[in-house]
Amino acid sequence: MLRFGILGTGRIGDMHAGIVAAQPDACVTWCFDVAADRAEATASRLGARATTDVDAALGAPDVDAVLIASPTDTHVGLILKAAEAGKPILCEKPIDVDIAKVEDCRRRLEDYDVTLQLGFNRRFDPSHKAVRDAVAAGEIGALELLVITSRDPGPPPPRPILEACGGLFRDTSIHDFDMARYVLGEEAVEVYAMAANRVDPIFAELDDVDTAMIVMRSESGALVHINNSRRTNYGYDQRVEAFGALGMVRSNNHRPSEVSRHDAGGTARREPLLHFFIERYRAAYEAEIRAFIDCVAAGTRPPVTFRDGHRALLLAEAAIASWRENRPVRVDYGDS
Ligand SMILES: NC(=O)c1ccc[n+]([C@@H]2O[C@H](COP(=O)([O-])OP(=O)(O)OC[C@H]3O[C@@H](n4cnc5c(N)ncnc54)[C@H](O)[C@@H]3O)[C@@H](O)[C@H]2O)c1
Repeated sequence: MLRFGILGTGRIGDMHAGIVAAQPDACVTWCFDVAADRAEATASRLGARATTDVDAALGAPDVDAVLIASPTDTHVGLILKAAEAGKPILCEKPIDVDIAKVEDCRRRLEDYDVTLQLGFNRRFDPSHKAVRDAVAAGEIGALELLVITSRDPGPPPPRPILEACGGLFRDTSIHDFDMARYVLGEEAVEVYAMAANRVDPIFAELDDVDTAMIVMRSESGALVHINNSRRTNYGYDQRVEAFGALGMVRSNNHRPSEVSRHDAGGTARREPLLHFFIERYRAAYEAEIRAFIDCVAAGTRPPVTFRDGHRALLLAEAAIASWRENRPVRVDYGDS
């Protein structure tokens, strides 16, 4: 049994806790949240102990691993505390909103031999993974264009989530930067981003954007296009399309059912898409947690690492610089 402490039991922490508890070889023993009622709600549902003291959870002898699902700007502090306590870590994306903190964390983690998997759940989605596998197997020949559409059904609440998330590029596009690296199988080296405020004035008030188009060039010359919006009126729009010399492979949107209606007026599918991440990526979150448990049990390297989180954040920083300065930006990965 791998016994988990869940650090942060809000929207996604509570969902992850339920998935952990459903595994035959894992359980949740402690739930930590600064909001006592949230820790208690998840803990009581799963027969775990609740605390508002992180050291109680990290120091507990019945915690073997931690899952960090607190606000983004608290991740680095919790990663370092968990590493110091010698607990394997599954941490939600992004590593942090502040690249300097991430780089400092990377240096400090060198002192610890700790397993750390980063929560880029979309790599575990069976449909997106099939696109990546087809590209890697050469089914579409040399990759020429990669098109990633990622649009949320609606913005999160302004406070505290929007304020603490680091903005569209670090919070949302980060998934797409990682997906691009995953499907390309190589790095993106140049980024050009345009962005706008088309959805809600709150984003401009927070010096953020709600709509973006990003173009990137890979090391070998493939072109990538990412488009993001904080609002659709038809559900969670998640598509990945790879186009190459021999054809195209595409991960399409998911619907609640496969029903279509046909009559004299026409043929149609009327249901909105699956609503949001918890519905759309359920299988991916399950596979992500399964992979983490298996890596800890086998002592192997996790499939998504701190380095992946760092590199995706470097792409986000390049996109922000490009958007603000209205120019293409070369990406410097340094020694990451
Ligand atoms: N991978 C994905 O698909 C996905 C989806 C949503 C959110 N996330 C990430 O998960 C994280 C949490 O997002 P959320 O939507 O669940 O937010 P949320 O606001 O719903 O939950 C955050 C929880 O953390 C608690 N908290 C606040 N400060 C804390 C601290 N210092 N220590 C511990 N807990 C603290 C809050 O009380 C709250 O219960 C973010 O980093 C976000 O980017 C990832």
